[in-house]
Amino acid sequence: MAKDIILLGPPGAGKGTQAHLLEANHAMVQLSTGDMLRAAVKSGSDLGKKVQAVMDAGELVSDDLVSALIDDRLNQIGPDAGAIFDGYPRTEPQAHSLDELLDARGRKLDHVIELEVDEDALVDRITGRFTCAVCGEGYHDRYKLPKVENTCDECGSHEFKRRPDDNEETVRKRMAEYRAKTAPILPIYEKRGIVSRIDGMGGIEEVRAAIEKVLAD
Ligand code: AP5
Repeated sequence: MAKDIILLGPPGAGKGTQAHLLEANHAMVQLSTGDMLRAAVKSGSDLGKKVQAVMDAGELVSDDLVSALIDDRLNQIGPDAGAIFDGYPRTEPQAHSLDELLDARGRKLDHVIELEVDEDALVDRITGRFTCAVCGEGYHDRYKLPKVENTCDECGSHEFKRRPDDNEETVRKRMAEYRAKTAPILPIYEKRGIVSRIDGMGGIEEVRAAIEKVLAD
């Protein structure tokens, strides 16, 4: 069975970038609560309308809601695929819910990988981020431009978009939420001896190699 892991780190640490690379190289599936919530907002559903203002303010949506989204998504992945939890859990109650959801399926967490980063550099990373509007491939104004100008490497689209919460003020709020509510969940996993810390300030490829080393253990 493939491994179940959490990628932990503040906004812009590179969780989504690394989750995509892991998906490409392993039988693993990214479960990003941020992506699930953005899909709900885009759909215009009642749920989307409810969470949009919370996300735009850089605050956390309710624990019950995100745990229900993960519960649903876990039902869609087979027992042989590993889960990459990206942006979940983010609070202590979410960490306990995840234990219950995994227990109920006979799964367990193998690794919690914390990407250690410098918050000021993250503001630069996040405010430069953009994605393909069609396939969602991620890019950056300085660190990862499309190979052909204004053309997605993956699907050839010429449409790109930026997230409404990727402005400096909201990013600072999201970081404060991370420090106050998410970083304190680490001791839960430290007690189990499954936390690995990786320098997230290296290049994308260096970080990828360090994560691969953890997974090989
Ligand atoms: P979410 O979508 O999870 O955002 P986040 O945690 O703030 O993380 P980001 O997606 O901003 O960053 P990332 O670490 O994935 O970095 P990325 O790889 O893109 O959550 C958004 C909102 O949804 C929350 O604020 C909250 O409201 C709500 N929410 C979500 N989950 C929730 C939960 N569980 N509970 C409650 N509320 C929840 O990289 C960033 C940029 O840097 C990219 O451009 C990338 O190309 C570049 N880059 C990446 N790695 C490197 C590198 N090593 N070197 C140089 N550039 C790099």
